[in-house]
Amino acid sequence: MTAVKPNHTPAPVVIDLSVAALRSRLHDILAVYVAAMDYPRGTEHHRAPMWTEHTTRAGWQAVAAVLPDDSGRVDLRHAPILAIAYGYRGANHQWWHQQVHSGMRRTGWPEHAARELLSDYFELTELHVHPTAQGSGLGSVLLERLLRERSEAAVLLSTPEVRGEDNRAWRLYRRQGFGDVLRDFVFAGDNRPFAVLGRRLPL
Ligand SMILES: CC(C)(COP(=O)(O)OP(=O)(O)OC[C@H]1O[C@@H](n2cnc3c(N)ncnc32)[C@H](O)[C@@H]1OP(=O)(O)O)[C@@H](O)C(=O)NCCC(=O)NCCS
Repeated sequence: MTAVKPNHTPAPVVIDLSVAALRSRLHDILAVYVAAMDYPRGTEHHRAPMWTEHTTRAGWQAVAAVLPDDSGRVDLRHAPILAIAYGYRGANHQWWHQQVHSGMRRTGWPEHAARELLSDYFELTELHVHPTAQGSGLGSVLLERLLRERSEAAVLLSTPEVRGEDNRAWRLYRRQGFGDVLRDFVFAGDNRPFAVLGRRLPL
């Protein structure tokens, strides 16, 4: 008889991350981001100060997917991190807000409509699943968890344009009901085209 080896790989657990937890595991969290985006090694060093600064913004909130230990417990000091998502409340002094506002005006959004959308939104700043864990719905779970108790009227995000919207990020956002705010938008200081997508809350 062939012995069947039991599969002990624990299922990921989704948790809220405090500012202290994110800061203490920032190196590992940024490693997920660099692997997910396939950025060159070293990118994490540039991003660390920005991600740290974001934790000070009003309404900052983060969630992560981590692996529990064999007994099912999560010790956040060591637990392997598989995915991360965070965002904060948008505000008109923020660079991203100003970029999106001027892009909306340039592409024909009336001022009152742009102001209305940008007056009360959550910016979904980052959402990344490690490549080894992609494709099993973890990204959707993080997004839903992050947005489920937000008080803002809308959520906005930016994502790189991809031919035919043919990647997991686009499929996820479309499945979750995100519509176009801006297309082929180039942020100052970057030459890649991005889309800004959004939807009303609650989901
Ligand atoms: C984009 C990203 C966060 C999505 O996370 P993910 O866990 O891989 O993707 P999803 O949550 O959409 O799940 C993937 C698959 O699970 C399945 N799935 C998702 N939600 C499901 C649900 N509610 N029920 C059943 N199956 C589901 C779907 O088959 C889906 O397949 P598809 O991607 O071909 O549509 C992740 O792939 C990633 O980090 N990519 C690289 C970085 C990136 O692009 N980040 C976003 C930049 S803005």
